[in-house]
Amino acid sequence: AEVIIVKNEEEAGEIYGRCVADLIKAKPDAVLGLATGSSPLAAYRALAKIVKDESIDVSQVRGFALDEYLGLPLDHPESYHSTIHRTVVEPLGLDPAKVHVPGDVLNGAPLEDGDKIAAAGPAYDAAIEAAGGIDVQILGIGTDGHIGFNEPGSSLASGTRVKTLAEQTRIDNARFFDNDINQVPTHCITQGIGTVLKARHLVLLAFGAGKAEAIEETVEGGVSAFCPASALQLHPHATIIIDEEAASRLR
Ligand code: F6R
Repeated sequence: AEVIIVKNEEEAGEIYGRCVADLIKAKPDAVLGLATGSSPLAAYRALAKIVKDESIDVSQVRGFALDEYLGLPLDHPESYHSTIHRTVVEPLGLDPAKVHVPGDVLNGAPLEDGDKIAAAGPAYDAAIEAAGGIDVQILGIGTDGHIGFNEPGSSLASGTRVKTLAEQTRIDNARFFDNDINQVPTHCITQGIGTVLKARHLVLLAFGAGKAEAIEETVEGGVSAFCPASALQLHPHATIIIDEEAASRLR
């Protein structure tokens, strides 16, 4: 992977924004891979600014998000459906009908609806393939090296599928649910690591000292399911954009 060390999130965001804006100019129906979390927010802001300043037509742009909770209605403010619409679709002015989140077809279907839930993952991978694949996938990374909801131990060949959320992830995310872990969903649906690796370009963003160890494992450790992001070493076009703090453990 190519590692770019930047001063701050804004500088990282501009690199992503320029890259994606040029892509959309060349390919108006570009397919963007989208992530939630704090790491991509400056990148979405930078892209939205370039789109506005340069009057780029984004009406044909398509999007596929990485992951979603199971069991939340789509219009729940903390669903990734809502989050992606709030942070990406609205500021960029994308066509909401062209942006997909893995749980959309389930719309809060109860976990007991096993057949429906089991079919949603393969259907999502098929939809990505039918769209011609993802052009640029933006990624954040967990302090344990997770990407999407692929926690350590996830198969590097995995497709989109339903998973149970790690206890630590539920504790970490309780802040979005009135600090009440009982309100945090127990399951999720996430693009697999194999799904992520099929995107033509991966852009992973990480900022702050808390990510330094995960970045060290990702860039300089062996490729291993113990650090899902280390799978980026297998990808022919992966760009890792990090600040000095996240880079502090690299040799
Ligand atoms: C988001 C996602 C997660 C985050 C990761 C980092 O859709 O799948 O893997 O990218 O947890 O989160 P932040 O960016 O908030 O540090």
